[in-house]
Amino acid sequence: MKKIEYLRISVTDRCNFQCKYCTSDKDYRFIPHSEILRYEEICELVRVFKTIGIKAVRITGGEPLVRKGIENLIYQLKEIGIEDVSLTTNGYFLAEKSETLKEAGLNRVNVSLDSLKPEKFSYITGKDKESFHKVLEGIERAIKVGLNPIKINVVLIKDFNDDEIGDFISFSENYGVEVRFIELMPVGNSPFSHSHFIPISHLKNLIEKNWGKLIPTKTFKKGPAKSYIVENTKAVLGFIPSVSEHFCSECNRLRLTPEGKLRLCLMRDEEVDLKCIIRSSDYSPEKLKEVIVNAIERKKQINGIDALESLGCQRKMFTIGG
Ligand code: GTP
Ligand code: 5AD
Ligand code: SF4
Repeated sequence: MKKIEYLRISVTDRCNFQCKYCTSDKDYRFIPHSEILRYEEICELVRVFKTIGIKAVRITGGEPLVRKGIENLIYQLKEIGIEDVSLTTNGYFLAEKSETLKEAGLNRVNVSLDSLKPEKFSYITGKDKESFHKVLEGIERAIKVGLNPIKINVVLIKDFNDDEIGDFISFSENYGVEVRFIELMPVGNSPFSHSHFIPISHLKNLIEKNWGKLIPTKTFKKGPAKSYIVENTKAVLGFIPSVSEHFCSECNRLRLTPEGKLRLCLMRDEEVDLKCIIRSSDYSPEKLKEVIVNAIERKKQINGIDALESLGCQRKMFTIGG
């Protein structure tokens, strides 16, 4: 395991989209507001995380931009001295928020966009076609204000968007952004089954056969993606084989859930309650640090996720933030 330097903070389980592979659970009850960490609590946790070596924080959700005052949190994270503060979003609010996010100190954004066709976008997200144009506008705004490097996350789904590879390659060239293909993870009870899964190795072969050789390149990132330039083009593509490869030995991250649980691994329901420590009457930063250090020791023993174990994962993706 690598040095832990990267903390992903899910600030809400709410989202204004309903992507089919993510939120298809009708019985899900949102976490009550009183259970969600307040910004002051997140900042106190981050101060302590910084003492154990956290240098980068990614804000996730649900959709982090639906939470009020997110700019204040970003501003405070920068004040605390977090070098790289990034955010993963569905892009819907970027048109209106990019400027204030940049002013608050946000360094960069990753935007989820699974189709470049308005009807298909509508199908997968449950939003209208106008929302597709709003997301594009949001991406353009983010580029304009300099929330760089911007990356586009595409969850690869057979018979849904596997006919759009060429369009995404052109998109990368035209917008000057990295497009990253993510393997569909079997979480929640989504309508997509194993038959919709395409391994990254297959996609790479397809691209090399039809568009050009993939030449490894280094891009600014903290996560598991591997990036390539498509030969003789300006397109930069990233690949995240979340299912077919395990990155445990490369893992440099921890996750904090909206209700203050420290999650040691995306695929395991093993969590440490930090909210109860921070809300206890005898709270001290030293005590919190000790709990976090012990959790990291525990994380070091995780190597190799059993496929069955990951399938047994009870948490919904939108309460982890990917
Ligand atoms: P940067 O590389 O810093 O830009 O960020 P990132 O790729 O870590 O962040 P992002 O939120 O854009 O995540 C992209 C995808 O990678 C999401 O679908 C995540 O679920 C997946 N991912 C991120 N971390 C892990 C991990 O530890 N294990 C697995 N299997 N997938 C991950
Ligand atoms: N499989 C793969 N990626 C997923 N994401 C959400 N749910 C899944 C899933 N089941 C992605 C989103 C977003 C990132 C944080 O996680 O599309 O880009
Ligand atoms: Fe919302 Fe992201 Fe889940 Fe889509 S993938 S429903 S945008 S949290």
